[in-house]
Formats: sequence, C-alpha cells, structure tokens
Amino acid sequence: MTKVWNDMHRDVQSSCLKSIQDLNCDYIDMLFIYWPFPNYHAPGCDVSSRNPDAKRFSAEEFTDTYRQIEELVEEELVEEGLVRHIGISNMTIRKLDAVLGKLRIPPSACESKLHPTFQQKDLCSYLKEQNILSIGYMPLGSPRRPERDILPEDVNDMQLPVLTRIAKAHLCHPAIICLKWALQKGHLPIPFSVHNYEANLEAAVTEPLTEEEMAAIDTLECGNRLVKGQVFLWPGATDWHELWDE
Ligand SMILES: NC(=O)c1ccc[n+]([C@@H]2O[C@H](COP(=O)([O-])OP(=O)(O)OC[C@H]3O[C@@H](n4cnc5c(N)ncnc54)[C@H](OP(=O)(O)O)[C@@H]3O)[C@@H](O)[C@H]2O)c1
Repeated sequence: MTKVWNDMHRDVQSSCLKSIQDLNCDYIDMLFIYWPFPNYHAPGCDVSSRNPDAKRFSAEEFTDTYRQIEELVEEELVEEGLVRHIGISNMTIRKLDAVLGKLRIPPSACESKLHPTFQQKDLCSYLKEQNILSIGYMPLGSPRRPERDILPEDVNDMQLPVLTRIAKAHLCHPAIICLKWALQKGHLPIPFSVHNYEANLEAAVTEPLTEEEMAAIDTLECGNRLVKGQVFLWPGATDWHELWDE
C-alpha cells in the first residue's frame, strides 16, 4: 500500500510507477489519496508555513484525481493492472457526501486519525454504512510526534488512568489496550513501531477487552485532534477548523 502525495494529484500514473519502482513490486494493493486537496508543503516545515498556491477542497478536482486511480485499477480488466484497490484519507462526512456518488469504483478504505481521545464516531458510522473500512492512523495518540505538533492542552492517551488501569489488569502496555479497543471497534489500526512490532501484532489475537472495558474507553473521547493540518491551509482560510468542515 502507498499514497499519492499532494503534489502529484495531476499525475497519478507517474506517482504510482515511481512507488512501484521504489518498492520493487509489480503492483500496488491499495493506492491512497493522502489528502483530499493538492496542497503541497515541504517535509518538516513549520506549522506557520503556507503554500500561496494552496486551494480549498474541490469535489471536481478530487474526483479527477480519483478517476486517474480508477483508470489504473480498470487496466486490470485488460492486462496486468497497476493498482488493485483505492483508498482515501483525511476525509470528512461533508467531503464524502460530495464525492461518493461521482465515483465508478467505491473506495475500499479510508484512513482517519482515530484513537481513544479522538474517536470520530459519526465519521466511522458513515464509513461503515458505505462499506468502507476505517483505517486508524496515530492509534496510540502519536506520543512521539514532532514538537511543532505538540500543544500544552493535548491529552496523552496512554497516560490516562482508565487506560493504565485496564493495561494493568491485562498485564500489558496501554498501547496494546488502544489497539485492542480499535480492533474491537471494527477499525484497522496502523501503529508505527520500531521496537514493539510483534507485541502489537499479538494484540489482535490475545485476550479481548470486556464490554465494561470497551465502554470505559468509549468515554475518553474529548476531541483531542493532535495534528491540525495548518500547513494545508489556503490563502483566505480562517483557521485549521475549515480543513475539517467544522
Ligand atoms: N494518513 C495520514 O494523514 C497520516 C498522518 C499521520 C500518520 N499516519 C500514519 O500513522 C502511523 C502511526 O502514526 P504515529 O507514528 O504518528 O503514531 P502512533 O502509531 O500512535 O505512535 C507511534 C509511537 O508509539 C510507540 N509504540 C508503538 N507500539 C508500542 C507499544 N506496544 N508499546 C509502547 N509504545 C509503542 C512507538 O515506539 P516504538 O517505535 O519504539 O515501538 C512510536 O513512538 C504512521 O505509520 C503514519 O504513516 C498517517
């Protein structure tokens, strides 16, 4: 699986071919549109950085980018296709409403930020109704995200007493509890890990959380959006809430 980066929305095929070459594979299982707008920013830039060419979301432009991936999937019908499934990411219900009816091939999955203090329940229900798999990024609350994305009011999921209590009962790290919760909710969490990769895989097959534990974690929702996405803002936008249709 890989993504079309924001500066490649107008040339998806080149992006896909480069990924195939870089990954040394024959095809992409799922190609995601990383952000729903083509607003590029340099890796590692500051949150105050803005691209003067950035634009607000356009259903037409998004659909055009998506159509380019559909063509890579449809090639499979006549020869070896480059892409098997299509993914989307960082969407809202309003944006999904604006585009889903225009797509020939429905997206298989949608990547969204999902962890106990940022559950996006309405978005997840919507995706489920549409038969689109919810993939949860930053499922542990991204404890080592860059300094630029850390604010004093941010909540650290894995230090919350509810999570540490449940972790103690299961003799594991709170990270494992976050992953069990996500899986039992029907999300596919994608934790980043250098040191805990195997333990995270095991979380899926070891002792599940009880209904009481699941209900206790459900109460942790507090709108704790850790990465706001300011660098994607366009000239004239009020603030980062506009990115999320809030
Ligand atoms: N679609 C998007 O816009 C988007 C945006 C942001 C991120 N993502 C994706 O989401 C993935 C995860 O995001 P993230 O890395 O920011 O946050 P995360 O997965 O919530 O947290 C990763 C951190 O948790 C630690 N960790 C993992 N498993 C652990 C365990 N069992 N016990 C203790 N600590 C554990 C890791 O340390 P160790 O490495 O030491 O294990 C790492 O420091 C990334 O791969 C990224 O590509 C997607």
